[in-house]
Amino acid sequence: MPDIAYVNGAYIPIAEARVSILDRGFLFADGVYEVAAVIDGRLIDNEAHLSRLARSLRELRIENSPSMTHIAEVEAELVARNGLSEGLVYLQITRGAASDRDFGFPQDTAPTLVAFTQRKNIIASIAADTGVNVITVPDLRWARRDIKSVALLAQVLAKQAALEAGCQEAWMVDRDSFVTEGSSSTAFILTKTDVLVTRANSAEILPGCTRKVVQTLAAREGLMVEERSFSVDEAYDAKEAFLTSASNLILPVISIDGRAIGSGKPGEKSGLLRTLYIEWATNAAQSS
Ligand code: PDD
Repeated sequence: MPDIAYVNGAYIPIAEARVSILDRGFLFADGVYEVAAVIDGRLIDNEAHLSRLARSLRELRIENSPSMTHIAEVEAELVARNGLSEGLVYLQITRGAASDRDFGFPQDTAPTLVAFTQRKNIIASIAADTGVNVITVPDLRWARRDIKSVALLAQVLAKQAALEAGCQEAWMVDRDSFVTEGSSSTAFILTKTDVLVTRANSAEILPGCTRKVVQTLAAREGLMVEERSFSVDEAYDAKEAFLTSASNLILPVISIDGRAIGSGKPGEKSGLLRTLYIEWATNAAQSS
């Protein structure tokens, strides 16, 4: 059976799912999105994702979106209809399809809501065993990276540069040579003095849902957790590095720009935090 997608109230085989060419997501990247992990058929940390979605909508003044309760029902329904045990739910809300292409907000246009699922092994992951290689690239994004907007061209180019360099992720770097975040993940380092460092939330990065849980789990383990900017040089010199995202949970970073991080193998604390996150997510899945 083909996978089912959701488009504005209808559940449709994904190959038949359509939106208008006048949709503002298509014309202007005028929309927002979320990606949440599914483990054992349950959405992980979905309240945090939906609350970030509601904030993104508010910040862009996209009004009359279906309620977050309704969206959660749609997500659960898609997981059920697609028999998804492990993977991702993607959802996107745009300012809708007006009758013409005009930059200003259209009047009386309902937002577009689409959602679909993707099968993915996120727990039994090869990348988690081998670790990933990262390159650094200039951060070319706009000034409101805290909004999870579908305007992802800078991230697309960053990820492609990483792939062409034989790497799996790109860490984007600001003008002062400080790492902002990954093209689709949060960047963490563990210093040689065992301090876990990630950039503080601001308009310069997306406030990662996984990041927040990982910080809590790390603090519970007695690790010092610091929110501050770190430079590319500090990252090269770190004991460990890792990335976090809903789509990959935690992945150890074993090299940055071809320089081995620590021993050049997945770090011990990165592995521990991955195990703790999976435990936390599995328990959350069972109790939801
Ligand atoms: N990306 N930073 C950026 C730029 C991201 O795109 C993402 C997630 C994150 C991590 O956020 P979270 O832990 O809430 O997933 C950080 C998703 C997975 C994506 O675009 O596919």
